[in-house]
Amino acid sequence: MLYPADLFDLTVDGQRVKNPIVIASMAGTVDAAYVAGRAEHVGMAFVGGYSIDPPTIAASQQMAEGSRCEFLPGDPVGELLRQADLLAALPVVGGVNLRASTPQALAGLAGSLGDRVIYEIDAHCRQAPMMEAGAGEYLLHHPDRLFEMVRALASQGVLVSVKIRAGITENDPKLARQLWEAGADLLHVDLMDAGYAKIRQIRNASPALIIANNSMHSFDRVMEMFSHGADLVSLARHSDPDTLAGLDAAITRYAREFGWYNAPKQLCRGGDIRALTFCCLPMKDCLSSPPLNGSGSPGKST
Ligand SMILES: Cc1cc2nc3c(=O)[nH]c(=O)nc-3n(C[C@H](O)[C@H](O)[C@H](O)COP(=O)(O)O)c2cc1C
Repeated sequence: MLYPADLFDLTVDGQRVKNPIVIASMAGTVDAAYVAGRAEHVGMAFVGGYSIDPPTIAASQQMAEGSRCEFLPGDPVGELLRQADLLAALPVVGGVNLRASTPQALAGLAGSLGDRVIYEIDAHCRQAPMMEAGAGEYLLHHPDRLFEMVRALASQGVLVSVKIRAGITENDPKLARQLWEAGADLLHVDLMDAGYAKIRQIRNASPALIIANNSMHSFDRVMEMFSHGADLVSLARHSDPDTLAGLDAAITRYAREFGWYNAPKQLCRGGDIRALTFCCLPMKDCLSSPPLNGSGSPGKST
């Protein structure tokens, strides 16, 4: 009998991920207790975001005075240790979403927390106080700083994820490649209005595990992402137990019936380069791409 973990054959640094569904962070809302109520139907979860140094904590305080919900523990390291312990008791691979203004703050936290969780750098938050603190989307405008942060964490021997928003930098695939080269293990991509083509470009540029995010609450949408290179999909606003259970059931049913949940779409029909494995024999006319047959125009492969 196949168990779901075998069904998806998905691991992160040797840890089994039981399905390709992830809970994405929502500051002030997603903590270990939130994950516990949904753990049966997800393989991974990121709690937070947590601000971990004085500039980002001040930014969170300012945001909380406005309309935002924020986690504001008195002792962030103690709270993250507690969250990591609670996550470790759940059947999910756990991660913490972090706002930091310096690489040293992240490396210091990793020194205290160890390798029990995935460290996700929040390069996503676009609230002005957070960007002014040198965190969140600021990092997408200052990628060298982001690479430094990735390197600082990777040098501590922990798993690193980077949460980005697509369409902010000029060249997302290039950024994805550079993040992987700096040591990022996972790229967590809020696609915003971009479709699966963005996931295909990022897949073709980087071997990191890719989590596709934004409105991943229908079976059709998540299958589009999987067939164009996403390894996992994540949900924040729609991470209610019913939606997660429905997606889990549908993806599991599909994988049981067809095998690979993330089999690539054919290259000649817009798939990512994993689909080369399934291309026609070279003597066949290739309807696909000039880049493949080297002729500059679609037609016979030579
Ligand atoms: C209330 C709220 C708080 C959020 N807080 C964070 C955060 O702290 N860190 C982060 O990286 N993303 C944060 N996000 C972004 C979500 O993780 C996610 O990228 C976004 O909501 C789009 O995905 P969805 O369509 O599944 O909600 C937040 C989103 C919401 C709605």
